[in-house]
Amino acid sequence: MEIEVVKFDNLGRGIGYLDNKIIFIPKTVPGDIVRVKIIKNKKNFLIGELTELIKPSKLRVKAICPLFNTCGGCDLMHISLSEALDYKLNKVNDILKKNNLDFTVKNIIKSKDTFYRNKITLKIKDGEVGYYKSESHEVVETNYCYLASDCINEIIKDIPLLKIQNGEITIRCNFKNEIILIINSLDTLENIDKLVKKYALVGVIQNDMTIYGEDYFMERVGDYLFKVSYNSFFQVNNEICAKLFSLIKENTKDSQKVLDLYCGVGTLSIGGVNSSIYTLGVEIIPNAIDDANLNKIINKKENSEFICEDTSNILNKIEASFDTVIMDPPRSGVSEKVLDKIIRENISKIIYVSCDANTLARDLKILSSHYEIKDITLLDMFPNTEHVESIAILSKKG
Ligand SMILES: C[S@@+](CC[C@H](N)C(=O)[O-])C[C@H]1O[C@@H](n2cnc3c(N)ncnc32)[C@H](O)[C@@H]1O
Repeated sequence: MEIEVVKFDNLGRGIGYLDNKIIFIPKTVPGDIVRVKIIKNKKNFLIGELTELIKPSKLRVKAICPLFNTCGGCDLMHISLSEALDYKLNKVNDILKKNNLDFTVKNIIKSKDTFYRNKITLKIKDGEVGYYKSESHEVVETNYCYLASDCINEIIKDIPLLKIQNGEITIRCNFKNEIILIINSLDTLENIDKLVKKYALVGVIQNDMTIYGEDYFMERVGDYLFKVSYNSFFQVNNEICAKLFSLIKENTKDSQKVLDLYCGVGTLSIGGVNSSIYTLGVEIIPNAIDDANLNKIINKKENSEFICEDTSNILNKIEASFDTVIMDPPRSGVSEKVLDKIIRENISKIIYVSCDANTLARDLKILSSHYEIKDITLLDMFPNTEHVESIAILSKKG
């Protein structure tokens, strides 16, 4: 059967209708006429796999990656960059509207880098290394990823030398093209020495044990240098991370005391808050806090403290009062308990950095009873994918 794709959904999939039932079709574009194979038939919706592009949409461009149609690693390589930026603006505005938030986002900051990712995670099944196919757990063998930095692409093709049969491998690289491999697998690794000879491999960690070299590297963003342990979070696109620093700097210039919740290795308060302003960072991963405590010294941000704690517990324990909070939670957003506590403190400004517009909007709705949305800017942290970073600036009402 032929289906016309009428619009995108908020996961970058095309939407069509089959016998009045909605069908989501990854890798299609509004205006496409397609044939599909039904891969999921749920009560209220279908998921289709594109089998034939009968008539391509005018919006379509040729995806640069030959694996694009099957690989689940990215979703928006088949439209132009400017269409993708419009898509992201429309998507976030749609989510804000669905949450009854009266704010329209107008700005999205572009990423110049295309091979931007300093970290990728590949699945390994029966010795095959790659990303999962869209909507499936089948591995699409990958030896080049158009999202990843060059040095990651050099080593991908040699990952099979490690003879991992089943598991997962994360490849991280830094500004000096040094590489750390983080492996979750019960298999015995082979040929690490061959990879060490060929690449700037600084560490191999298997199941949280360092089996070669170091368990961290140094990363640079603009003028700032950060120690990043293998299991500490770091922003994946350094160019956009620098843009986040500028936006935070602009919005904290009049702050006196800044609380940096979900601080990771201290990235946003060290890079984004002037060194004369006191900051307290809170993070749940012990290694990341050790990194942050070193990073404050390296970057001369001595007027700061970092503590390892669950954000849900911290607000009861802090005695100092803060005028500004930066919060950059995981995709799941901030719990209602934490939001309630923030509302009850006398915090005049909130800088909410988010990689998930749905949880951002959900949380902004709760905060909007006491805070006004002054600005939301999007940052194209993840080109070629449906994902987008947001930074929302809120100020206390009254
Ligand atoms: C999106 S990352 C942001 C990290 C940091 N702001 C940055 O820019 O690199 C979210 C961070 O929240 C941390 N995290 C997750 N749950 C947490 C919790 N309940 N309390 C404190 N930190 C948490 C994660 O370990 C991760 O480092």
